Amino acid sequence: MSKHKDINNNASRDDIGSNALGPLTQNASAQMPSHPNIGLNAATQPLTRSASGWHPKVFIKTFGCQMNSRDSEALSGLFVDRGYRIVEKADDADVILVNTCSVRAHAENRAISFLGSLKSIQNSKFKIKNCQSPKVIGLIGCMARNLGEEIYKKMPHVNLICGPGCLDKIPDYIKKVSEKGSRIIDLEDRDRNEELYSLSFKVDSDRAGVVISTGCSNYCSYCVVPYVRGNLRPRNHQNIVDEVKNNIKAGVGKITLLGQNVNDYHYQFKIQNSKLKIITFVDLLKMISDLEGLKEVDFISSNPRNSSVELFKLMAERSNIKKHLHIPFQSGSDRVLKSMNRGYAIADYLDTIKKYKEIVGGSLSADIIVGFPNEEEDDFLATKSVVEKVEFKYAYIFKYSPRLGTAAANMVDSVSTEYKEKRHKELLDLQKQISRKLQKKC
Ligand code: SAH
Ligand code: SF4
Ligand code: F3S
Repeated sequence: MSKHKDINNNASRDDIGSNALGPLTQNASAQMPSHPNIGLNAATQPLTRSASGWHPKVFIKTFGCQMNSRDSEALSGLFVDRGYRIVEKADDADVILVNTCSVRAHAENRAISFLGSLKSIQNSKFKIKNCQSPKVIGLIGCMARNLGEEIYKKMPHVNLICGPGCLDKIPDYIKKVSEKGSRIIDLEDRDRNEELYSLSFKVDSDRAGVVISTGCSNYCSYCVVPYVRGNLRPRNHQNIVDEVKNNIKAGVGKITLLGQNVNDYHYQFKIQNSKLKIITFVDLLKMISDLEGLKEVDFISSNPRNSSVELFKLMAERSNIKKHLHIPFQSGSDRVLKSMNRGYAIADYLDTIKKYKEIVGGSLSADIIVGFPNEEEDDFLATKSVVEKVEFKYAYIFKYSPRLGTAAANMVDSVSTEYKEKRHKELLDLQKQISRKLQKKC
């Protein structure tokens, strides 16, 4: 498949944006850390085409995880650096970008619905004020990789489609689309230019997200992330440390390290005599914790497969490492875990939790999936039992959503919607009770 097309705006139209809107984390026990629209303090100057260049107004709507929020923030940095304005309403913008998530069907449906609603904006205010170009309406992020080609065909008002590997190219593509009135689709999976992370635009003045790696090579059988984000790509440790230093210098002392599985982080480079040196996640965390002025560092997510005692010892030792661990277990049943390709048994998970409690003594949170193909009542009871035993501060509980192209999508989705709903509610209620009990203890 050609990953980069530059085509005139003549594709046929057939809207697919008819799904109902609802909150992204509708089937989660608590809202994921919020997924804000970016740039609420943006200036509202009119569009100008002047000697100093074109300064369009950009609106970014973000769906998905904290990684996506950080991507939108970093992209906003690129825009601000080029003199573009970030605005808070789609109606005010010359460029509307929808940064999307494919992890569950619900997240995709919301983005499709939003993209569909932009058709009227494109039609009613088709041209950017005082110039002949159409508005730029862009589908970016994970869903671009999953459904980009389909949306390219079905939504001609969407004239820019870019996967997560092309984030740093978006400002140039916007210029091209607006100047030529063409459409661009680029879904190539490639390394991002480090410039993306070096700009200081921040949405939150208190805490900064810092990406330590993109993608994931674990291929859990239900998960679309490796397909849409690509395999694990660790960033150079020195660039990460420099980004944290820049945040501290700018007065942002709290840092959240972001990776699909932070424990998978390992950056390899050559030292003298062609010997290889490997920086592990624990090494990186130590370097960051050592930085002068750092108030607090935390990280998300940890994989039970490789959360080590070494990590817990470091967490216990350092006062500026937050005493909280987000460690998804997905299911309490070994049979289901095997079918999910998670790479651990539930006894291993519980052993890791025991060590964490002994060594760190901090709080815990998790992700859980109910209604995975062939999940029996006994499997579900095993999941409930883990929730009771561990006592998470909070947990994100999801109903299984088949994702095309993943291994689990070929399994018969045998659990009825009724059972999925029932198990989801039962687990949510249980978790709520535990969260309340823990809150009272504090
Ligand atoms: N890398 C993280 C998870 C990223 S996706 C980790 O492995 O911990 C966030 C969560 O979405 C997952 O932990 C899982 O609980 C949920 N999830 C992923 N794919 C899903 C699917 N197909 N259906 C339902 N929930 C899913
Ligand atoms: Fe998805 Fe599994 Fe990778 Fe997490 S570890 S992103 S659930 S494949
Ligand atoms: Fe969604 Fe992509 Fe994050 S699929 S969960 S936005 S990595």
